Amino acid sequence: MKYRTSKVESYDFLAAGSVLYSAPGIPNFPVRLGNEIFNRCLGHYGTGNSIRLYDPCCGGGYLLTTIALLNGKSISHIFASDIDTRALKWARKNLSLLSMDGINARKRQLTELFQTYGKDSHRSSLLHIERLMSLVTDDDFDISVECFQYDILNNSGSFTSETDIIITDVPYGNLVQWSQESGIDKMLEQLKKTMHKDSIIAIIHDKYQKRTNQDYKRLEKFKVGKRVTEILKLK
Ligand SMILES: C[S@@+](CC[C@H](N)C(=O)[O-])C[C@H]1O[C@@H](n2cnc3c(N)ncnc32)[C@H](O)[C@@H]1O
Repeated sequence: MKYRTSKVESYDFLAAGSVLYSAPGIPNFPVRLGNEIFNRCLGHYGTGNSIRLYDPCCGGGYLLTTIALLNGKSISHIFASDIDTRALKWARKNLSLLSMDGINARKRQLTELFQTYGKDSHRSSLLHIERLMSLVTDDDFDISVECFQYDILNNSGSFTSETDIIITDVPYGNLVQWSQESGIDKMLEQLKKTMHKDSIIAIIHDKYQKRTNQDYKRLEKFKVGKRVTEILKLK
């Protein structure tokens, strides 16, 4: 896959464990790839304003938070859900970095760590946080966030808010599993409740998981390393 929309630049300031939070057992996602996927979805959606973005398997919220920091001007709402309450604890922390309150709290924590231990890693985190601040204080950066526990495979799920772009990195590794078998088709069925006719969805999975749900047409498919991305729209 050739990157078309995501520039070659250093994303060190978004590294997991620097300013963004990371925890054992909570997966992350390559920043440049996430940014490329979002921008391809925007291209298919047709407009880059006031996007309501949803990740139904948000894990620790790393993918959503990095996309939002890099594309804040295009996004008005973020919906983040996961079945796992432990992952959601980290998602709330990461997504708090989309507001100055969250950034200031993280800055106080990192300053205290630097004063106590004097580590170079904390010094660089304090430099990285300045980059985040400059993004979040931009006049056009104003994102409302809803983060909640939700089983996306449950037929009686009641999340029905309309969303424009859905990006989700489904379970495929040893680190995290689907809560039940054949997740992708069932998830696509449930996601119809939150989509309108122009909504775009990008699912990232591995080569072993196949989509057989025929209610969607495929706009793009590409592979980077072990990750297969499919960009879809309702037929
Ligand atoms: C690969 S991880 C997502 C990582 C995330 N993209 C990030 O950047 O932090 C997949 C997530 O799917 C969640 N999951 C598994 N079954 C689920 C279900 N039935 N409903 C919602 N989430 C589910 C897992 O708890 C896990 O957090």
